[in-house]
Amino acid sequence: MKLSPDTLKRLADAGLDPAKLPRHIAIIMDGNGRWAQERGKERVHGHLQGVQSVRSTIEECCRLGIEQLTLYCFSTENWKRPQAEIEFLMGLLKEYLIREREEIMRENIRFTVIGRRDGLADYVLAEMDENIRVSAKNTGMTLCLAINYSGRIELVDAVRHIVAEKSPADTIDEETISNALYTAGMPEPDLLIRTAGEMRISNFLLWQI
Ligand code: IPE
Ligand code: IPE
Ligand code: MG
Repeated sequence: MKLSPDTLKRLADAGLDPAKLPRHIAIIMDGNGRWAQERGKERVHGHLQGVQSVRSTIEECCRLGIEQLTLYCFSTENWKRPQAEIEFLMGLLKEYLIREREEIMRENIRFTVIGRRDGLADYVLAEMDENIRVSAKNTGMTLCLAINYSGRIELVDAVRHIVAEKSPADTIDEETISNALYTAGMPEPDLLIRTAGEMRISNFLLWQI
């Protein structure tokens, strides 16, 4: 992808080589609650602010010509959070999916998701599917949201898929597994970021990273 003169200048100013940019950046978006609490506010305020950070991250990745950005939005473990917080997050997600549709189209982003559909409310699934549908032919960056995602469950689903295909055991190799994951066909992440300063993987993209 051709970078604008402005982007090239900003890269040069930061001492970055455009040829060495990652193809696929994956982000574990953590620390929303602490961010808010440190400012004497409710955790949900941090989630609202997080949406703003997501927007600027997406814009910057588009400018840099990053091929794929994968954002960890909600893990299967997150269902253990208080019901009120879960409801807030799901409402926020739905609104986000609707509100960003225009931006997705303007930036030529191809929208996609990874995770299990089972367990997600219909009102979330509907907006998710609509974003996938309208952006399917876009040719810019792929934005992949991990929603109701678990790396272990992804492996379980992959094994189920492979077993259902009834392939002989000795024909199964790394490629078979890669192709059975939710991320089939996507480039593997070459940069994983976790915000909030912790080093945990929290069940994210276990095979891919
Ligand atoms: C990340 O922030 C958002 C989600 C996991 C949905 P947290 O809600 O985990 O905030 P902290 O880590 O408790 O500060
Ligand atoms: C990781 O953050 C999961 C997401 C960003 C969706 P968490 O805050 O949920 O992870 P743990 O509990 O600290 O491992
Ligand atoms: Mg956290």
